[in-house]
Amino acid sequence: MKQSVVITAALPGEATRILSRKYEVTSHPTEPPRSEDELITILAEADGAITLLTDPLSRRVLSSNPNLRVIGNYAVGVNNIDLEAARELGIVVTHTPGVLTDATADLTLALLLAINRRLLEGDRLVRNGEFRFWDPLMLLGASLQGKRLGIVGMGRIGSAVARRALAFGMEVVYHSRSSRDLGFPADRLELDDLLRTSDFVSIHTPLTPETHHLIDRQALALMKRDACIVNTSRGPVIDEKALAETLENGTIRGAALDVYEEEPEVEVRLLGLDNVILLPHLGSATVEARTEMARTVAEDVTAVLEGGRPRFPVLSPDGSPEPGELEENQ
Ligand code: DGY
Repeated sequence: MKQSVVITAALPGEATRILSRKYEVTSHPTEPPRSEDELITILAEADGAITLLTDPLSRRVLSSNPNLRVIGNYAVGVNNIDLEAARELGIVVTHTPGVLTDATADLTLALLLAINRRLLEGDRLVRNGEFRFWDPLMLLGASLQGKRLGIVGMGRIGSAVARRALAFGMEVVYHSRSSRDLGFPADRLELDDLLRTSDFVSIHTPLTPETHHLIDRQALALMKRDACIVNTSRGPVIDEKALAETLENGTIRGAALDVYEEEPEVEVRLLGLDNVILLPHLGSATVEARTEMARTVAEDVTAVLEGGRPRFPVLSPDGSPEPGELEENQ
């Protein structure tokens, strides 16, 4: 009998094309996000699964099906998965590092430029019929040339953002657990120093217990009054309520967010603010990245089901995350 692979949402056809050569493939048409109970039902017969970043793969879900051998998470972030439980249960977890780096870095720069040059405010002004004359003082932003970008989490995506920022003439500093040769100029700083001195702050750290609310009320209070913060990593790295309060009080200039603490919910106070840009988690949303993500997870799930080694396991061969590995990967 053919092994069975469940895909928990509609993905680019590449995934089904690769998997259906060997396996019974079921795609689930119901809308995410799903509860643990729904996932238990969906995964009941599966040998392998391709899951979304919104699928809560808790110990309870993972242990509900003793046949489950591999989870291919359709994302680079794996904070939706209880990795400890997966390791204990012998379930291999794979993800999609690398293939979405450029897409996410491009979006980060788009957000940085948009919040700085007030693009959405300008768009709203034109649509509202308020563009009456060329006003020398209308919607001024800052020059990026010579401004300091502080990158929190210098993994693949952080580095790709840094290279783009350098091309805009920005100075780059970063905060990261480990220091290494980046191949471009960037000083490593303590987080507090980065926050105190940066004109723009961009978050690229994975969500772990250590990074949850890393940017809290105190951290936001350290930022310059005219600084902007961009987050394309995971929402809970920033305390969203504290951010709303900070923006309301004008103690920083703006924020551009692609991710939220309780997606798809957004802190209601952010919705009414002009100095915020809110996107629906579009970091990897290019045809190329999403297709490569589909290929990557499908090939890795196949590798595991065929008894081979996946290219992008989240856990090292003995099952434990390597120190700094998640940060490096993301
Ligand atoms: C990821 O892969 O973790 C991204 O958030 C998806 O865009």
